Amino acid sequence: MMKMEKDELKSYEKAFLLTEDALGFAEKLVKEKAKVLDIANAVESRIMDIGGKPAWPVNISINEIAAHYTPSINDQLALKDGDMVKIDVGVQVNGYLCDRAFTVCIGKKTHPLIEASKKALEECLKLFVPGTKVCEISQVCEDTVNKLGFNVIRNLAGHRIDRYSQHESPSIPNGKNSMKDEIEAGKVYAMEVFVTDGSGLVVESSPAEIFQYNSDSPVRMWEARKLLELAKGDFEQLPFTRRWISGISPLKIDMALKQLLQSEAIIEFPPLKEESNGMVAVTEKSVIVK
Ligand code: CO
Repeated sequence: MMKMEKDELKSYEKAFLLTEDALGFAEKLVKEKAKVLDIANAVESRIMDIGGKPAWPVNISINEIAAHYTPSINDQLALKDGDMVKIDVGVQVNGYLCDRAFTVCIGKKTHPLIEASKKALEECLKLFVPGTKVCEISQVCEDTVNKLGFNVIRNLAGHRIDRYSQHESPSIPNGKNSMKDEIEAGKVYAMEVFVTDGSGLVVESSPAEIFQYNSDSPVRMWEARKLLELAKGDFEQLPFTRRWISGISPLKIDMALKQLLQSEAIIEFPPLKEESNGMVAVTEKSVIVK
Protein backbone atom coordinates (compact mmCIF):
# COMPACT_ATOMS: atom_id res chain seq x y z
CA MET A 1 0.00 0.00 0.00
CA MET A 2 1.43 3.34 -1.08
CA LYS A 3 1.39 6.52 0.99
CA MET A 4 1.31 9.88 -0.74
CA GLU A 5 4.37 12.15 -0.44
CA LYS A 6 3.90 15.20 1.79
CA ASP A 7 4.48 17.76 -0.99
CA GLU A 8 2.18 15.91 -3.32
CA LEU A 9 -0.57 15.82 -0.71
CA LYS A 10 -0.09 19.53 -0.02
CA SER A 11 -0.51 20.40 -3.69
CA TYR A 12 -3.58 18.20 -4.02
CA GLU A 13 -5.14 19.75 -0.94
CA LYS A 14 -4.52 23.23 -2.32
CA ALA A 15 -6.03 22.25 -5.69
CA PHE A 16 -9.08 20.85 -3.88
CA LEU A 17 -9.55 24.09 -1.89
CA LEU A 18 -9.18 26.28 -4.97
CA THR A 19 -11.68 24.14 -6.87
CA GLU A 20 -14.17 24.54 -4.03
CA ASP A 21 -13.75 28.31 -4.30
CA ALA A 22 -14.07 28.28 -8.11
CA LEU A 23 -17.27 26.23 -7.90
CA GLY A 24 -18.86 28.65 -5.43
CA PHE A 25 -17.78 31.53 -7.65
CA ALA A 26 -19.22 29.84 -10.76
CA GLU A 27 -22.52 29.03 -9.09
CA LYS A 28 -23.26 32.73 -8.59
CA LEU A 29 -22.71 33.43 -12.30
CA VAL A 30 -25.05 30.75 -13.60
CA LYS A 31 -28.30 32.62 -14.20
CA GLU A 32 -30.75 33.44 -16.96
CA LYS A 33 -29.29 35.55 -19.82
CA ALA A 34 -25.69 35.07 -18.67
CA LYS A 35 -23.34 34.34 -21.58
CA VAL A 36 -21.41 31.09 -21.31
CA LEU A 37 -18.33 32.89 -22.67
CA ASP A 38 -18.42 35.40 -19.79
CA ILE A 39 -18.90 32.65 -17.23
CA ALA A 40 -15.99 30.56 -18.55
CA ASN A 41 -13.64 33.54 -18.76
CA ALA A 42 -14.60 34.76 -15.28
CA VAL A 43 -14.16 31.35 -13.63
CA GLU A 44 -10.81 30.76 -15.33
CA SER A 45 -9.61 34.23 -14.20
CA ARG A 46 -10.81 33.53 -10.70
CA ILE A 47 -8.79 30.31 -10.56
CA MET A 48 -5.63 32.22 -11.51
CA ASP A 49 -6.42 35.09 -9.11
CA ILE A 50 -6.51 32.69 -6.16
CA GLY A 51 -3.21 31.04 -7.10
CA GLY A 52 -4.17 28.05 -9.24
CA LYS A 53 -4.29 27.24 -12.92
CA PRO A 54 -7.27 25.90 -14.83
CA ALA A 55 -6.47 22.24 -15.48
CA TRP A 56 -8.69 22.52 -18.59
CA PRO A 57 -11.06 25.08 -20.10
CA VAL A 58 -14.21 25.43 -17.97
CA ASN A 59 -16.86 23.16 -19.52
CA ILE A 60 -20.38 24.59 -19.67
CA SER A 61 -22.61 21.94 -21.19
CA ILE A 62 -26.34 22.58 -21.56
CA ASN A 63 -29.38 20.24 -21.66
CA GLU A 64 -28.65 17.20 -23.90
CA ILE A 65 -24.94 18.08 -24.08
CA ALA A 66 -23.42 16.00 -21.29
CA ALA A 67 -19.84 17.32 -21.35
CA HIS A 68 -16.95 18.91 -23.24
CA TYR A 69 -18.62 22.11 -24.41
CA THR A 70 -16.49 25.17 -23.81
CA PRO A 71 -17.31 28.54 -25.39
CA SER A 72 -15.54 29.56 -28.59
CA ILE A 73 -13.87 32.96 -29.00
CA ASN A 74 -17.03 34.84 -30.03
CA ASP A 75 -19.60 32.54 -28.49
CA GLN A 76 -22.99 34.28 -28.16
CA LEU A 77 -24.71 31.42 -26.36
CA ALA A 78 -26.66 32.64 -23.31
CA LEU A 79 -28.48 30.72 -20.59
CA LYS A 80 -32.28 30.44 -20.81
CA ASP A 81 -34.97 29.63 -18.29
CA GLY A 82 -35.20 25.86 -17.86
CA ASP A 83 -31.68 25.14 -19.17
CA MET A 84 -29.92 22.24 -17.47
CA VAL A 85 -26.44 23.73 -17.06
CA LYS A 86 -23.46 21.56 -16.18
CA ILE A 87 -20.27 23.28 -15.07
CA ASP A 88 -17.12 21.16 -14.96
CA VAL A 89 -14.04 22.75 -13.42
CA GLY A 90 -10.49 21.50 -13.09
CA VAL A 91 -7.79 23.25 -11.07
CA GLN A 92 -4.14 22.25 -11.00
CA VAL A 93 -1.35 23.13 -8.58
CA ASN A 94 2.07 21.90 -9.77
CA GLY A 95 0.22 19.46 -12.01
CA TYR A 96 -1.78 17.96 -9.14
CA LEU A 97 -5.37 18.44 -10.04
CA CYS A 98 -8.92 18.38 -8.80
CA ASP A 99 -11.91 17.63 -11.02
CA ARG A 100 -15.42 18.69 -10.01
CA ALA A 101 -18.77 19.38 -11.62
CA PHE A 102 -22.26 20.49 -10.64
CA THR A 103 -25.57 21.09 -12.40
CA VAL A 104 -28.03 23.96 -12.11
CA CYS A 105 -31.49 24.13 -13.71
CA ILE A 106 -32.06 27.79 -14.57
CA GLY A 107 -35.14 29.23 -12.83
CA LYS A 108 -35.53 26.23 -10.52
CA LYS A 109 -34.15 25.54 -7.07
CA THR A 110 -33.32 22.00 -8.09
CA HIS A 111 -34.49 19.21 -10.41
CA PRO A 112 -35.09 15.46 -9.94
CA LEU A 113 -32.22 14.68 -12.37
CA ILE A 114 -29.84 16.80 -10.32
CA GLU A 115 -31.02 15.23 -7.07
CA ALA A 116 -30.53 11.75 -8.53
CA SER A 117 -26.97 12.48 -9.63
CA LYS A 118 -26.13 14.00 -6.23
CA LYS A 119 -27.63 11.05 -4.35
CA ALA A 120 -25.87 8.45 -6.51
CA LEU A 121 -22.53 10.26 -6.18
CA GLU A 122 -22.94 10.38 -2.41
CA GLU A 123 -23.56 6.61 -2.34
CA CYS A 124 -20.58 5.94 -4.62
CA LEU A 125 -18.19 8.10 -2.60
CA LYS A 126 -18.79 5.93 0.48
CA LEU A 127 -17.11 3.09 -1.45
CA PHE A 128 -13.86 4.94 -2.21
CA VAL A 129 -11.84 2.98 0.32
CA PRO A 130 -8.91 0.66 -0.43
CA GLY A 131 -10.06 -2.69 -1.78
CA THR A 132 -13.42 -1.72 -3.27
CA LYS A 133 -13.78 -3.10 -6.80
CA VAL A 134 -14.74 -0.77 -9.64
CA CYS A 135 -17.75 -2.99 -10.50
CA GLU A 136 -19.10 -2.53 -6.96
CA ILE A 137 -19.09 1.26 -7.32
CA SER A 138 -20.68 1.12 -10.78
CA GLN A 139 -23.41 -1.19 -9.51
CA VAL A 140 -24.33 1.19 -6.68
CA CYS A 141 -24.21 4.08 -9.15
CA GLU A 142 -26.61 2.56 -11.68
CA ASP A 143 -28.94 0.98 -9.09
CA THR A 144 -29.33 4.27 -7.19
CA VAL A 145 -30.11 6.19 -10.37
CA ASN A 146 -32.52 3.54 -11.68
CA LYS A 147 -34.41 3.47 -8.37
CA LEU A 148 -34.97 7.20 -8.74
CA GLY A 149 -36.49 6.63 -12.17
CA PHE A 150 -33.64 7.65 -14.46
CA ASN A 151 -30.79 6.17 -16.49
CA VAL A 152 -27.05 6.61 -16.07
CA ILE A 153 -24.97 7.38 -19.13
CA ARG A 154 -23.41 4.00 -19.71
CA ASN A 155 -20.47 5.21 -21.80
CA LEU A 156 -19.30 7.87 -19.34
CA ALA A 157 -17.20 7.18 -16.30
CA GLY A 158 -15.37 8.43 -13.28
CA HIS A 159 -11.62 7.94 -13.39
CA ARG A 160 -8.34 8.02 -11.56
CA ILE A 161 -6.30 11.24 -11.66
CA ASP A 162 -2.54 11.52 -11.77
CA ARG A 163 -0.04 14.36 -12.04
CA TYR A 164 -0.69 16.30 -15.26
CA SER A 165 -3.11 13.58 -16.31
CA GLN A 166 -6.84 14.11 -15.99
CA HIS A 167 -7.97 10.64 -17.07
CA GLU A 168 -6.03 7.65 -15.82
CA SER A 169 -7.16 4.07 -15.61
CA PRO A 170 -9.08 2.56 -14.11
CA SER A 171 -12.17 4.33 -15.30
CA ILE A 172 -15.20 3.87 -13.09
CA PRO A 173 -18.18 3.50 -15.44
CA ASN A 174 -21.58 4.88 -14.47
CA GLY A 175 -23.17 1.62 -15.66
CA LYS A 176 -22.78 -1.93 -14.35
CA ASN A 177 -19.76 -3.93 -15.52
CA SER A 178 -17.43 -6.66 -14.32
CA MET A 179 -14.26 -4.60 -13.71
CA LYS A 180 -12.27 -6.06 -10.83
CA ASP A 181 -9.74 -3.21 -10.48
CA GLU A 182 -9.49 -2.11 -6.86
CA ILE A 183 -9.50 1.35 -5.31
CA GLU A 184 -6.03 1.94 -3.86
CA ALA A 185 -4.66 3.99 -0.98
CA GLY A 186 -2.50 6.97 -1.90
CA LYS A 187 -4.37 7.53 -5.16
CA VAL A 188 -6.77 10.19 -6.34
CA TYR A 189 -10.05 9.54 -8.12
CA ALA A 190 -12.76 11.67 -9.63
CA MET A 191 -16.23 10.18 -9.54
CA GLU A 192 -18.82 11.73 -11.81
CA VAL A 193 -22.40 10.53 -12.09
CA PHE A 194 -24.25 11.41 -15.29
CA VAL A 195 -28.02 11.01 -15.06
CA THR A 196 -30.48 11.32 -17.92
CA ASP A 197 -34.15 10.92 -18.78
CA GLY A 198 -32.95 9.73 -22.21
CA SER A 199 -31.64 6.34 -23.33
CA GLY A 200 -28.28 6.67 -21.55
CA LEU A 201 -25.60 6.92 -24.19
CA VAL A 202 -23.57 9.85 -25.47
CA VAL A 203 -22.27 10.38 -28.99
CA GLU A 204 -19.73 12.91 -30.22
CA SER A 205 -21.06 16.12 -31.75
CA SER A 206 -19.20 19.06 -33.25
CA PRO A 207 -17.33 21.34 -33.38
CA ALA A 208 -14.65 20.56 -30.82
CA GLU A 209 -13.26 23.46 -28.80
CA ILE A 210 -11.12 21.41 -26.45
CA PHE A 211 -7.74 20.05 -27.52
CA GLN A 212 -4.73 18.44 -25.86
CA TYR A 213 -1.10 17.75 -26.67
CA ASN A 214 -0.51 14.19 -27.84
CA SER A 215 2.89 13.79 -29.54
CA ASP A 216 5.80 15.63 -31.18
CA SER A 217 4.69 14.87 -34.74
CA PRO A 218 6.34 17.06 -37.38
CA VAL A 219 4.13 19.79 -38.88
CA ARG A 220 5.00 22.16 -41.72
CA MET A 221 3.12 25.32 -40.87
CA TRP A 222 4.93 27.80 -38.58
CA GLU A 223 1.72 28.55 -36.68
CA ALA A 224 1.15 24.84 -36.10
CA ARG A 225 4.64 24.44 -34.62
CA LYS A 226 4.06 27.53 -32.46
CA LEU A 227 0.72 26.14 -31.28
CA LEU A 228 2.27 22.76 -30.48
CA GLU A 229 4.87 24.57 -28.36
CA LEU A 230 2.03 26.27 -26.46
CA ALA A 231 0.20 22.95 -26.01
CA LYS A 232 3.34 21.38 -24.60
CA GLY A 233 4.72 24.34 -22.67
CA ASP A 234 2.20 26.96 -21.56
CA PHE A 235 -0.68 24.52 -21.35
CA GLU A 236 1.53 21.85 -19.76
CA GLN A 237 0.11 19.03 -21.92
CA LEU A 238 -3.30 19.48 -20.32
CA PRO A 239 -6.45 20.37 -22.32
CA PHE A 240 -6.68 23.85 -23.84
CA THR A 241 -9.02 25.87 -26.04
CA ARG A 242 -8.92 28.53 -28.77
CA ARG A 243 -9.78 31.24 -26.23
CA TRP A 244 -6.40 30.70 -24.58
CA ILE A 245 -4.31 31.09 -27.70
CA SER A 246 -2.71 34.47 -28.33
CA GLY A 247 -0.16 35.59 -30.91
CA ILE A 248 -1.77 33.66 -33.80
CA SER A 249 -4.63 35.01 -35.94
CA PRO A 250 -7.99 33.16 -35.61
CA LEU A 251 -7.88 31.97 -39.24
CA LYS A 252 -4.36 30.61 -38.79
CA ILE A 253 -5.38 28.98 -35.50
CA ASP A 254 -8.03 26.97 -37.37
CA MET A 255 -5.52 25.85 -40.00
CA ALA A 256 -2.89 25.04 -37.39
CA LEU A 257 -5.34 23.01 -35.31
CA LYS A 258 -6.41 21.07 -38.41
CA GLN A 259 -2.79 20.24 -39.29
CA LEU A 260 -1.96 19.25 -35.71
CA LEU A 261 -5.03 17.00 -35.52
CA GLN A 262 -4.19 15.36 -38.83
CA SER A 263 -0.66 14.54 -37.71
CA GLU A 264 -1.97 13.41 -34.30
CA ALA A 265 0.25 15.95 -32.56
CA ILE A 266 -2.89 16.95 -30.65
CA ILE A 267 -6.19 15.26 -29.94
CA GLU A 268 -9.63 16.86 -29.66
CA PHE A 269 -12.55 16.40 -27.28
CA PRO A 270 -15.79 17.11 -29.14
CA PRO A 271 -18.96 17.94 -27.17
CA LEU A 272 -20.73 14.77 -26.01
CA LYS A 273 -24.46 14.73 -26.69
CA GLU A 274 -27.07 12.36 -25.25
CA GLU A 275 -28.04 10.33 -28.32
CA SER A 276 -31.81 10.52 -27.72
CA ASN A 277 -31.56 14.22 -26.78
CA GLY A 278 -32.42 13.44 -23.17
CA MET A 279 -31.66 16.02 -20.49
CA VAL A 280 -28.43 15.32 -18.61
CA ALA A 281 -27.32 16.27 -15.10
CA VAL A 282 -23.93 15.54 -13.55
CA THR A 283 -22.34 15.81 -10.15
CA GLU A 284 -18.64 15.14 -9.73
CA LYS A 285 -16.15 15.19 -6.87
CA SER A 286 -12.52 14.22 -6.49
CA VAL A 287 -11.27 12.18 -3.56
CA ILE A 288 -7.86 11.37 -2.11
CA VAL A 289 -7.97 7.81 -0.85
CA LYS A 290 -5.91 7.50 2.32
CO1 CO B 1 -13.85 14.02 -14.54
